[in-house]
Parts: sequence; structure tokens; C-alpha cells
Amino acid sequence: MTAQIAPAAETDIAQWLEEQTDKSLLRFLTCGSVDDGKSTLIGRLLYDSQLILDDQLASLQSDSRNRNVGEEGIDFSLLVDGLVAEREQGITIDVAYRFFSTDKRKFIVADTPGHEQYTRNMATGASNADVALLLIDARKGILTQTRRHSFILSLLGVKHVVLVVNKIDLVDYDRETFAAIDQGFRAFSADLGFESIVSIPVSALRGDNIVTRSERTPWFEGQPLLGYLETLEVGQQAQDRPFRFPVQWVNRPNLDFRGFSGTVASGTVKLGDDVLVASSRKPARVDRIVTMDGDRAEALAGEAVTLVLDREVDISRGDVLAQPGRVPDYSNQFQAQLVWMADEPAYPGRSYLLKLGSQLVPATLTDLKHRTNVNTLERSAAKNLALNEVGTVTLATDKPIAFDAYGENETMGGFILIDRINNLTLGAGTISFGLRRAQNLSYQQFDVNREVRARLKGQTPQIVWFTGLSGSGKSTVANLVEKRLTAEGRHAYILDGDNVRHGLNKDLGFTDAARVENIRRVAEVARLMADAGLIVLVSFISPFMNERRIAREIAGDIDFIEAYVNTPLDVCEARDPKGFYARARAGDIKNFTGISSPFEAPEQADIILEGATESPEAMAEVLYRKMVER
Ligand code: ADX
Repeated sequence: MTAQIAPAAETDIAQWLEEQTDKSLLRFLTCGSVDDGKSTLIGRLLYDSQLILDDQLASLQSDSRNRNVGEEGIDFSLLVDGLVAEREQGITIDVAYRFFSTDKRKFIVADTPGHEQYTRNMATGASNADVALLLIDARKGILTQTRRHSFILSLLGVKHVVLVVNKIDLVDYDRETFAAIDQGFRAFSADLGFESIVSIPVSALRGDNIVTRSERTPWFEGQPLLGYLETLEVGQQAQDRPFRFPVQWVNRPNLDFRGFSGTVASGTVKLGDDVLVASSRKPARVDRIVTMDGDRAEALAGEAVTLVLDREVDISRGDVLAQPGRVPDYSNQFQAQLVWMADEPAYPGRSYLLKLGSQLVPATLTDLKHRTNVNTLERSAAKNLALNEVGTVTLATDKPIAFDAYGENETMGGFILIDRINNLTLGAGTISFGLRRAQNLSYQQFDVNREVRARLKGQTPQIVWFTGLSGSGKSTVANLVEKRLTAEGRHAYILDGDNVRHGLNKDLGFTDAARVENIRRVAEVARLMADAGLIVLVSFISPFMNERRIAREIAGDIDFIEAYVNTPLDVCEARDPKGFYARARAGDIKNFTGISSPFEAPEQADIILEGATESPEAMAEVLYRKMVER
């Protein structure tokens, strides 16, 4: 067998893959821990297919002294670990990729750490694997980790699984042990929807059933691992799927040229093809396919091109060009599986940025249907999703987006959720299906609108959003401002936490999730009241930056003033008007803001009132001026 190991640098890899074009590509993923022999297995695959250069071998042999070695005196895991360290640089998620080829096929291996916490690493590595090798230690059988990995694989649409029952030498090549593991796994994964499951008894250390069939397992009739990987038929490739072209940017260098640049996500496009804009369903025909190296007659999935159409159509960044008759969904609601990757949990009601291809839109986690225990596959009701948890959720985007179910198209059905404030990636999801419920919902316009109502009252509606700790003086100031406005004949209304929580929000407590929902509802009520022509004073702790931002967004074009009553905790605690701080300190009240629940101070409040040093009257005066000035 002649084989080559791929060069390490990114650019060389692209070139190397190019050189191997006559061979089909198989992407596979290994799941398991070093203890299961994962590194040894990969090392063995490379070694037995003669992929290791001689000088690398020499250094391996010298490093392998005092370690757990195979018959050749080599600890194969050393090889892999070395490569991992190299590849890890510059990537934030711990997935290492390796490339190799045999006479029959070229391979990309994604390797992810098997550690408990690493759901997300796996999610990333597995997302475009054709097949996954699930490593099992024959002595231990199926573990929690195996179950978790299987679930994530099914979530990410991996269709083929190889159960690599390793260390078969350590159970004396026992047929029964192997059969029990094989059957146990098939029973467990019956509902996970894998297209194929193949179990192979191997000893990575001794080379049994890796490249050639082992005489020590005469009872095993299947193919050795490499042979299986070389011949496995994988399903539809991206280019056989319906055409999808997410527009990255509109390329308009001068008045004579208007092209749409992006990467073909799936399918192919040829000159003269009819395409449809996914959002407007407007048709057009492809006039030119432009690349850096000149015009082309065709472009395939994965290729970056600029398309010129035969007519003027309204298309902007984020739009998707698609094949007529096989267009993607276009909707603002869908159900998805979400893997949460952030320390702070995901809460229903909270708004995030959703990125799907080149589309970036605000989206609200509208419902958490259930959490799935990744170890047992059990589903349970949940109020939030914590780090590394997986849930079935619904999401509503602020405007419709084009998408496909992940099962049909990974590129068009996979998304990430991003924090609106610090831009960190918080979660990754796969769309299960679109929900069309809200598709035809738009605002009903009435003849009497906000301006008419406001004119009738002779005032400009406004929302003043107070934020600050309990006892900071929010309600006191709101009360003074309302008195003053009323005396002037203006019509104002105070929405106060303590009051609203007696009625509309009496179902909500003080967990983070409940506060998120509390503020969302109040923001909606404030908007309605302002729309009715009122000046609304909202006095809630509103401890989270994210929800205050959402409140501002919900207000839309209604004037919105964020007023931070900046009274330090020790001052509020000394005042303790309701005796809550004392009880919170004593542990009688849980999740108390400032004591056992966070308060995120505003970074850009419209006005800051210094509650410790200024009198309520002085604060009310400053705020009143600000309101008039607006
Ligand atoms: S918010 O965090 O969701 O905005 P909100 O303003 O509605 O809180 O309610 C805060 C008021 O509820 C406080 O002023 C206090 O009187 C009362 N309260 C009762 N329990 C708590 C708690 N655990 N944390 C904060 N406030 C509490």
C-alpha cells in the first residue's frame, strides 16, 4: 500500500487535497478518551497504512521508552498527541484535524477530546463527519460517555457509526464479550436514527483488525477497520442537493456591474440556470459566474463565486438564491435542537443574535420544550439550559430568514447564537423544522394612531426606564416625577415591580429566568401604554443588560430614557426599607439582587442618578429636565 501523510500547514492541505481529487473523500470523527485507546488507534491507522515518515518514527521510538507500547516498541498515542498540540494552536475549540490517504480514498479525521465537559467540542467536530468511530474499551463496555457521544452524533446528523471495540486482546479475544457490547449498543441506539452501525473487535495496540483481519478473532466475519472506511458508501454529497447560494455581499464596483458574492452552500449552478430569491420568491437567470480567475460555466458546492443575474432584483446580504421548485423555508419561527456552550444558562424569553450562514438577526428563545439528558436520552421539563446541556427549543427571529431542516442541509440548517453585548458564541443549534404560525402576522393598522392619541393629550409619549438595586430610590424618584407631570396636566403612569408582580407577573419569582420574562412583559406593556399616548415610568430592578437593551428595542421609535439610580449596595442595605436585605443575608430570601443574584450596572445609561449623595427631589429635578429636553 502506498500512502502519504498530509503536510501540516493549511495552504499545503488545500493543495494536497486538490492533488488527490481522483479519490473520494471520507470525513470521520473519533469519539472516546485516551483511556479507550483513541490516540493509539489513530496512530495505528496512520502507522499501518505507512503514513509516518521515517524521521518521525525514529523519534517516536526513543520517546516510547517506559510507556505502554505495542509490539513495534512504539506508543502510537505519542504521535497523535504531538500532532494535536501542533494543530491546536490558533483554534479556540479543541478539535484537531488530520489528513491522510490510501490507494482508494482520502481521509480527514476530526479528533475531539473525550472529557466530560466537551459536548461543544464534539458538536463542532462532528458537524460534517460522514462516519464516526465510537471507541469502546472491551473490558468496560458501553459507558455513559458512549451514550452521550451517540446522542450528539445523532443530533448532528452523522449517519454511520463504527463501534470500535478496542482492547479485545485484554478480554482474550472473547467472542461473547464482543457480541454483548454490540447488542447492547444496538438496543440503546435504536431510536437515534443511524443508517448503519458496524461493530469491529480490534486491538489498536497489537494491530488486530485495523488494516488486515486478525487470526486471533476467527469468529469475526466483517471487514477490518481501514477496509471498511475505504469502502463505506456515504450518502448525498453537498453538490447533489438543491442549489443554495447565501449572498455574502453585493458587489457593485461601478454602475455597469452588479454581482452577488458568496459561497455555494449546496448544489451546483450553471450559466443560464433559473434561480429564485428565497425571501421574495422573485425569479432571475444566471448570466455570468465570475471568479478571481475569470468567468466560469459552472460552480459547485464549496466554491466562492460572484453571480451576475439577467435582471434587476432586490437582493441584499443575507438573502439566499435557490433552485426554483426546491426553495428553502422562509419563516420567522422554527423548532431546533440547541447545544448550550456558555457558563451563563439560556433562558426562554431572552434575545440573542442568530447567525445562519450570512444571515444575522436578533432572535428570541421563545420556548424551551424540554431538556434531553445527553447521558440517558431522558427528556425532562426545564426552565433553562446550562453549559453543555441540550434542549429542544423554539426560536423566533425578528424578521424571517431562509433555512432548511438540518437533516436536509447542514449549511442551511445549522446556526449559532451570539451574545448581543459581548459577541461571544453561546450556543449551536440545528433546525428541526419551521413553524409557520406567525408567518402571516403583521401589525394591524388603525386610523387612530399614536400621534393622534398623543396630540389629544398634548404630550409626547415617553418611556423612562429606571434601573437600580432594591432600595436604591427608583420608585421614590418615579413618584416625584409623576406628581410633577400630573400637576402640569400631563398623563403619566408608573409601572412598578412590586405592583406588577401582584397581577400580570404573579406567576414569576426571582430566578434569572423569571426576571428575564418579568422584564420582557413589562417592556411590552410599557410600549402599549406609550402607544396609547402616556408617559410611562418603569421602575424595576431590571438587573440584566441584555433585557434592558431588549426593552429599548421593544420601544422602537418611542423615546426611551434609561435612568440608572446608582445607589451603592451598602447604602441600600443600610436603608433596607422592607427588611429584605437582612432576610437575604440570613438566607431567608434566595436570589436577592446584590446579595445572591447579580446586578449588571448599565454602561451607557442615558442618565445616572447618584442615589447616595443626591436627594430624591434633586434626582427628580434632573430627570424631569432630561425628559423635557428630549
Ligand atoms: S426584577 O429583578 O425582576 O426587575 P422587580 O423590580 O420586578 O425585580 O422586583 C423587585 C422587588 O421585589 C424588590 O424591590 C423587592 O421589594 C422584591 N423582592 C422580593 N424578593 C426579591 C429578590 N429575591 N430579589 C430582588 N427583589 C426581591
